[in-house]
Amino acid sequence: MANQIKAVRGTRDLLPPDTETWNFIESTVRDVFRFYNFQEIRTPILEDLSLFQRSVGEETDIVSKEMFAWEDRARAQSEKGQWLALRPENTAGVVRAYIEHKMWERPGLQRFYYIGPQFRRERPQKGRYRQFYQIGAEVIGSSIAGSESPAVDAEILEMLAKLLDRLGIHGWKLKLNSVGCSEDRPIYLQALRDALKDVAPTMCIDCQRRAETNPLRVLDCKVPEDQPIIEKLPKLDDYLNESCRTHFAEVQKILNAVGVPYEIDNRLVRGLDYYTRTAFEFTHGALGAQNAILGGGRYDGLSESLGGPAAPGIGFAIGEDRLVMTLQESAGVKAQPADVYIAPLGAGMNVHAAKLARELRSHGVVVIAGDESFKLKKSLETASKLGVRFALILGENEVNSNQFALKNLNTGEQASVGKSEIPNIVKQTKSSS
Ligand code: HAM
Repeated sequence: MANQIKAVRGTRDLLPPDTETWNFIESTVRDVFRFYNFQEIRTPILEDLSLFQRSVGEETDIVSKEMFAWEDRARAQSEKGQWLALRPENTAGVVRAYIEHKMWERPGLQRFYYIGPQFRRERPQKGRYRQFYQIGAEVIGSSIAGSESPAVDAEILEMLAKLLDRLGIHGWKLKLNSVGCSEDRPIYLQALRDALKDVAPTMCIDCQRRAETNPLRVLDCKVPEDQPIIEKLPKLDDYLNESCRTHFAEVQKILNAVGVPYEIDNRLVRGLDYYTRTAFEFTHGALGAQNAILGGGRYDGLSESLGGPAAPGIGFAIGEDRLVMTLQESAGVKAQPADVYIAPLGAGMNVHAAKLARELRSHGVVVIAGDESFKLKKSLETASKLGVRFALILGENEVNSNQFALKNLNTGEQASVGKSEIPNIVKQTKSSS
């Protein structure tokens, strides 16, 4: 036998019945997004590498270690190829599209959502893949349209709480922080760099590197030995200026008013460089080490850093793979079996089975059509194995009389019924099961 080819490391096939859970999640989120007036945007999976270098940040783990990027073939020998990347996240692509299509010329705030694959070359483990799926949303617009308002932050968080509740996910935790803005952050970073000068050499290898390249990420370190050192470092919230402080207080005030519970986590800094002010994560205990179901925050300077106009924004991305895991570990979504298995008996009956199946499907019945070469026993066994609730026996007599033997495979009861009665019988037993 020839060598078997397997899915690439860190990627996986999503198979039925698991895809039922994926579809359930996607239809629920589309429904919730509609009520908050979000509209779908689809951007390419393939982008110019520099898009991520300039937005997510060259010194972040995502860009410096985890990108799938390559130099594309040059058009002529004298030319250099363009550097392409598989998107590791979707916010940069959405803001690029916002700028490219001059979407600030549209009225009001732009409210987008997306569902799609992202790629990061991470070490695969439970809840961490190299191709994973995000469900995200972004609100972008000019300050005049109100994009900087803390009400937008609070509304997004309230929507997420609603969404998780609608999906039946309980026991989540919302961690909230303000990471400051372009005015107060540089002052904090300087204070952090100064403090790290003496202590960084005694910290873990990652912190030693981050102290040089991306000191804010030191706050994210989970190594137990480093914790007492981090506790003594300057605190971000001591450096927030008055307007960031007021903004953050207002977000909390609205969350309290609408009853969304949260915890302030002063060390939450997130792994992407574009964040300003509000940053957040929702975690869930069912997930183990990779416990963040979703993350997000404000990015008030991102549009300008990508060559666009001032267009403050805020958004989030849910790790759909992790959401599926959380759901399956709690209630789970049951795959729905077909309603009716048609068992055609004998030569020439496939034609009648096809006609009947077509008619029943047009009345909302989920049908599997069997094959005339099967003996009745084999048809009934096949239907039972597939979990189908009814078998419909179709022979010469049934075609002539227009009366069919409908066998309930759960109870064993069999009745002779007219064609027009079948959809109702099926629907009645569906709603009572
Ligand atoms: P992020 O925190 O990098 O943020 O990713 C968001 C979520 O994607 C994570 O909380 C996690 O659930 C999921 N995720 C990330 N990496 C993996 C992986 N390797 N395998 C499985 N799931 C993963 C962003 O991507 C930002 N773009 C979010 C955002 C939107 N901020 C503002 N707007």
